[in-house]
Amino acid sequence: MGRAFVYVVLGGGVAAGYAALEFARRGGYSRGELCIISEEAVAPYERPALSKGYLLPEDPSRLPKFHTCVGANDELLTTKWYKEQGIELVLGTRVISADVRRKTLLTATGETISYKTLIIATGARALKLEEFGISGSDAENICYLRNLEDADKLVNAMSSCSGGNAVVIGGGYIGMECAAALVTNKIKVTMVFPEKHCMGRLFTEKIAEYYESYYTSKGVTFTKGTVLTSFEKDSTGKVTSVILKDGNHLPADMVVVGIGIRANTSLFEGQLLMEKGGIKVNGQMQTSDSSVYAVGDVAAFPIKLFDGDVRRLEHVDSARRTARHAVAAILEPSKTRDVDYLPFFYSRVFTLSWQFYGDNVGEVIHYGDFTSNSPRFGAYWVSKGQITGAFLEGGNRDDYEALSVVVRRKTKASDMSELERQGLAFAIQE
Ligand code: FDA
Ligand code: NAD
Repeated sequence: MGRAFVYVVLGGGVAAGYAALEFARRGGYSRGELCIISEEAVAPYERPALSKGYLLPEDPSRLPKFHTCVGANDELLTTKWYKEQGIELVLGTRVISADVRRKTLLTATGETISYKTLIIATGARALKLEEFGISGSDAENICYLRNLEDADKLVNAMSSCSGGNAVVIGGGYIGMECAAALVTNKIKVTMVFPEKHCMGRLFTEKIAEYYESYYTSKGVTFTKGTVLTSFEKDSTGKVTSVILKDGNHLPADMVVVGIGIRANTSLFEGQLLMEKGGIKVNGQMQTSDSSVYAVGDVAAFPIKLFDGDVRRLEHVDSARRTARHAVAAILEPSKTRDVDYLPFFYSRVFTLSWQFYGDNVGEVIHYGDFTSNSPRFGAYWVSKGQITGAFLEGGNRDDYEALSVVVRRKTKASDMSELERQGLAFAIQE
């Protein structure tokens, strides 16, 4: 049993949705020539909604409202849209093996799907506690958050936990965004993570301090510099407390775990070149096999701005842009230059909102008001006398645009005290 397509997008997440939009805009395929294969049961959606609008206690966001590509203020790609565009959605279908030489994919239902050109958009999976030697994380009140199914489990757990206690494991993006959502749902939160401060991959100690004290004012307790070792459960298998390495027991009506991800590369290991935990691609998002492209969280691609350094980014803007770039490169190779991406990350929690551009390397200076409840503060990272990264909390559209420009231009900044004195004005006047 089998089907043949010209173009196959493997994975039905953010990148797949934006790839579909780009195919539809450019044309260049006929009805029935393009398909998206996804393990998920629904058409591609804006994954960031799962830790934000989806978890709101009032008027939570639900599909079809947040299908791609509304996150980039573009069209809402519903199932009907794919039908109208002649793009086949092969949903609820897991691909279990791939043969790059033969250009075939085998699904869990035993179907062989062949392609002429493949776009790998398999994203990533949440790391499980079991991978750190801790068992029992399949309990009904322990939640991870990567897909819709996880989000529904989390919503259910929250609804039977009002006024109760939640323990959040991990101080990264998921931990911070879920802790804020839990508090908004009137659940008491303790965050547990091994580092000295939250968001260790990006925040400086001073930036982290602001968010931690803001969260503390909302009732969140921080237990830092330690990890959990096991869970206590009741006779039904539900977790009742989290046991920490330092011997403390934290009462828990529910647990949310966000301890990082692994890119879904396994189908292609031994067949395609890998780097930085992802599938290595060139500036056209093309892998070591010329018929295969990789985009989104699974792709490790060269960042021109960082002198071609290869990075695997785990953020939605990168997924959107790399997907569109790959489609452009496939359909119009001679007109498509190498990708020139400016890394961009953001988050929104409570009434706070920050953006970051570039790379957080070099010397850091901070500026602005770190004390207010409606803050406006930021930081620049400077390396070799040039701005390499910029962070801002509480900015407006023009502020963020100005920051992106100074990072993109690698604006010279040799006098650190002058940069500190000027703060945001430095970027705005450039
Ligand atoms: P994505 O994970 O979106 O999609 C992968 C798809 O491939 C899934 O549909 C999966 O089922 C499918 N798949 C995998 N293996 C398969 C197989 N073998 N067979 C069939 N299908 C398979 N970023 C940001 O910049 N700002 C933000 O606010 C947030 N917020 C946020 C919240 C939450 C809860 C998460 C989990 C993530 C974010 N992110 C984010 C990160 C952002 O969502 C992420 O970078 C993109 O979703 C990556 O898009 P991809 O399409 O690469 O993977
Ligand atoms: P992360 O890498 O942001 O953070 C992982 C955290 O896990 C670390 O900060 C650390 O505190 C903690 N940790 C690691 N091992 C641990 C252990 N054994 N015990 C306790 N804590 C441990 O990953 P995440 O928060 O799980 O997020 C998953 C993915 O989702 C990432 O790719 C992230 O970029 C994406 N995401 C992004 C956003 C955003 O950009 N706004 C929002 C949500 C999710």
